[in-house]
Order: sequence, then structure tokens, then C-alpha cells
Amino acid sequence: MCGISGIISSNTITKKLLNSIQNLEYRGYDSCGMAIINSHGPVIRKNIGHVADVAEKELFLSMDGYVGIAHTRWATHGGVTPANAHPHANCDGSIAVVHNGIISNYLDLKQTLIKKRHHFISETDSEVIPHLIEEYRKGGMPLESAFSAALKELEGSFAVAMVAYEEPGRIFCAKHESPLIIGLGNNENYLGSDFNAFIEYTKDAVVMDDGEYAIISNEGYAIKRIGDGSPVLKKVMQIEWDAEMSKKGGFPHYMLKEIYEQPETVNKALAISQEAIISLARGLVDSRRAFLTGVGTTFYAAQIGQYYLASEAGLSIPAISSDEFLESTPAGEGDFVLAVSQSGETYDTLRVLREAKNRKAKTAAIVNVIGSTMARLVDTTVMQGSGPEICVISTKAALAQMVILIRTAIEAGIITGKLTPADRKAKLKQLETLPGLISDFLNEHSAFVHNLAKRQAHHHNWLYLGRGKYYPIALEAALKVKEVAYLHTEGMPAGFLKHGTIALIDEKLKCLVFVPTEKEHELYKMTMSSIEEIKARGGSVVAIHSSRAFAKSPLLDDQLLLPSAPPLVMPLVALVASQLLSYFFATTLGRNVDKPRALAKSVTVA
Ligand code: AGP
Repeated sequence: MCGISGIISSNTITKKLLNSIQNLEYRGYDSCGMAIINSHGPVIRKNIGHVADVAEKELFLSMDGYVGIAHTRWATHGGVTPANAHPHANCDGSIAVVHNGIISNYLDLKQTLIKKRHHFISETDSEVIPHLIEEYRKGGMPLESAFSAALKELEGSFAVAMVAYEEPGRIFCAKHESPLIIGLGNNENYLGSDFNAFIEYTKDAVVMDDGEYAIISNEGYAIKRIGDGSPVLKKVMQIEWDAEMSKKGGFPHYMLKEIYEQPETVNKALAISQEAIISLARGLVDSRRAFLTGVGTTFYAAQIGQYYLASEAGLSIPAISSDEFLESTPAGEGDFVLAVSQSGETYDTLRVLREAKNRKAKTAAIVNVIGSTMARLVDTTVMQGSGPEICVISTKAALAQMVILIRTAIEAGIITGKLTPADRKAKLKQLETLPGLISDFLNEHSAFVHNLAKRQAHHHNWLYLGRGKYYPIALEAALKVKEVAYLHTEGMPAGFLKHGTIALIDEKLKCLVFVPTEKEHELYKMTMSSIEEIKARGGSVVAIHSSRAFAKSPLLDDQLLLPSAPPLVMPLVALVASQLLSYFFATTLGRNVDKPRALAKSVTVA
């Protein structure tokens, strides 16, 4: 989504504000801007493009001041144009506002304001905010009251920050269903959509909740309720992540760095206390009905959970994509909803959890971002501890989520009696081989993957196929290719192919098949049948597999041979291989790996 930052200090802030918004660029990057208060009022500079380019073009560093706000945009209302970039101003330019979220009643508000002779420049919903504040000021209200009165008129979701000429020593901000965090420094305070906005400057933070606004000066802050202006006291929290974790560390892209961090993030997922994992397992087993949810990659992680809960615990617990959950699944009292989310801020998933809570269902979440809305909303939170994931494309966070869900399935297996303690011990031992397997694969096979990508990247249409646990892996792998390489890639169960899609098979359509281990006899044989069916129709097969015998098969047009691994962990090894393949597809095709077109790291709107 969009990124918001703000700094107020007793020293000049321009460089820090620019750095801050650069560190949030992964949240959205079609345009950006800054407003800094100086002796003439808020000076606003903004344009379309990435922060570094706009900063150079608009001479951001030549702006000087002690207080400012900045924004990096992911367009929702209105195209990618300089006028639609934030900050937005009121008619006389004395108020500058940045906004993340969607003001759903903006058209009505805009009409009313136009009738009152307000002049609009952009097509955005956000621009109504400075004009509304201005309208209240005209009636003689003090700025703070005008700010909170305007907030009360907004419907939808917002994180808002405002600076105004008449009060140059304060930043005003507010939160409702879009994240906002205050950072506390020495004679200098910060504001950000997430910790990355200010983690280089302070580790002390205060997380704002829905329905709150805050006034920040360089000496302190005050948080109040939008409803009645009553003060809110908050705990200051310590951010555990450190700034170095958010740097590229010698890798050409965050995506590659994060793929290579996976042995470590798997270890962190394995180190999560057994108690925490059992609490998830208990929730799933003891409830009337249980559901898993997430969206995009985290839906596929949830599906992995579904398959392992079936195999390890004999449980039937559906994974439902959170964007469709409420319309398909009325969860209520006695039910348990376990959500998966890297950011903890995804609108679709939060919507499910809020509704589940309203209907008295129990909720839990596996989340990566500390202090996120989801982590604070649910009854039980398991923090996955994967560290900051900066690339828009999720890799290390997704793998860690899958490991946590597999551990949960194993504990659920103990509770249901499908597994004995000895089985659990053996299975956990197998899981513990995963970090080593991944690091060996990355160190020894990366060149093979790169060469495969170079041979295959010019094919524009792909089917990614898998059976059983390899089906959600195929879906997730296909999403990676779409997101980062922009190749049309459809993930599908290999068994589903023959029920219609097989009509598409020809020599131009590439089929990438995830082949199970030979030990999974039945599944292996059935996957082979799918391959035969493709070949019989003149199709082309690339396989990701671990069978030394199959490696010599004439059925293969190309392949990636994986190291041997226990069936329990092989789907995850295959996933890592496919992540690396997507990365090399993208670099071969010259894509913008860390900031692919049209995407944003966390999608906080409907
Ligand atoms: C992952 O590569 C995607 N960018 C996207 O599908 C993402 O997983 C999805 O938006 C959910 O985000 P969350 O994990 O932060 O909730």
C-alpha cells in the first residue's frame, strides 16, 4: 500500500525524511512527494516515479526545515500522475496532507466542498482531507479541533498525516484501519506506516490503534480518541529488528537476499516454542469447526497447512482465501479461524478476523510484523520471527509460515492420536534437515537454476502443475513467476488438467511439473500419468524433481534435479527451487525484481 512518514526535530530533517520514505518504498512506488514546513508554509514537491528519481528531479534535498511529511504511493483512486501524487494541499496551500487507505465517501464530500467553492486539483479520494480541515478552520475552529472534526466525516480506511503553516511545531496524524506508528527519539520524533520508516533512528515506538489521532512535536506526543478527544496512554515498545536486517547486504536484490536467508528463517520458525505451536493445534482440534485463511501467497501457505493437517493429524480443515472467506464461510461461535499474514495489515484477512470476532469465533494468526494490527487483534498470535521482508515478492516469510503450519499439524497429530510421540520426534528431526538442505541447494544448484531460467525465460505461457502437497506449491510458484517475471503462469492440480485445460496443450505451452518423491508411490505414479498425457499431445515438460532414474527419461524437455530429502520436507525444497527460478526468470528478462510493476508489499485496501 502507500507509505507515510513524518519527522519533527530541533535539527533539519530533509535528508532523514528522504531516507525514511526510501525505506518505505516497498509499500508502493508509482509516485512520491514531500511537504516540509519553512518560513513560507508547507513546501510541497512531488512527481511520478521511484523515490530516488523524483528526489533528484524535484530537488528534495534543497528543501530545508525542521518538520515534514512524505509519501510513496500505490495508486487506488486516480491514475499515476504528478497531480495525484501526495502530499495534497487545501485551497490556499497552508495545509499539507498524506494519506494511506480509501475514503469511501469521498465523492459526496468532494461535491459538498466544491459547492462551498473548494478547488480540487487531483482525482484522488485523499484530497478531500485538507479541504475538509480548511472548511472547519473557516468556521473559526482551532486546528486540532478542525483536524478531528474532519476525521469524523471520513468513511473507509485511513492513516493520515498533516502539517500546517499555522502550527509549524506539530505533526497531526490519525489512524483507522491503515497502520501508523510513532517513533520516539531525542528531541526528534517520527511517524511511519511501519518501523522501516525510522528504524535507523530509534527503536522506541508507539503503535496507534484504530480511532486514534496524535499530535507529535519534537519533544513528545499525545494520543487522543477521534470520537471524544479523550487522552489515550500507550506502552512504548522496543523494536527487535535492527536496521542492518533491512539492508541488501551485498546481494543485488532483496529478493535474492531473502531467498538466501531462508535456512535462518526456517531455524527461527523451528525455534518457536512448542507451547505456542500447541496453542494453535489445540485451537484447530478443539473447535466446532476450524478454518485457515490468508490471501495471495499466504493463502497458499494456508493450503499447505490444510494438506499437512490432513496427512499428519487426519483433520479436514479447509483453507479459504480471505478475499472470498466471508461470502463463502459463515464462521461463528465455537469456530476457530487461523490466519496467516506477513505484514499483519492485509485488508482482506483483517476483514475476516474482525467479522469472526464479531461473531464470537476464536481467532489466531501467524504474523511476521511486530506490532501489526493483526498481531494485536487476534486471541492468539504466533510471531514467525522471519525479520524484515523488504522485497514485494514474499519468499522467506512464506516458507517460515509453512514450517510453522507443518509443526502445528504434527502437534495436532499428537492431540488427535494419529501420531505417537516417537512419530513426532522422527518428523521434527526431518524438519530440522530443511535448513541444511536449502543452504546446500542454494550454494550448489544456483548456477543450474540460472541456466534453466536462461533457456526457458522466453516462453510466455506456462502451466505449473502438482499433486497433493505439490499443488499449493505449484500455485505459489506460479504466483511468483507472474509477480516478478510477468509471464502468464497458471497453477493447477496436475489431476485437474485432463478435465479441460489439456485442450491448451501444444508445443508452445510450457508445463512445469512438480514431481513428488518416489517414496510417495501413488502420488508419483499419478504425476507421471499427467506427464504422459501432456507428452501424448505434443506438450513440453520441465520437471522439478528428485528422482535420479526419472532424470534420464525421454519425457523430459528440461529439468531441475533436487537433492534427496524426506517426503515431509521435499515440497518446501521444491518451493525454494521455484523461487530461485522465478528470480532468474525476472533477471533474465530484465524485470524490476524488488519493485515489480503494479504491486505493493501490503495491501491495506479492499
Ligand atoms: C506475495 O508475493 C504477494 N506479494 C502477496 O500475494 C501477499 O502474499 C498477499 O498480499 C498477502 O500479504 P500478507 O502476507 O502481508 O497478508
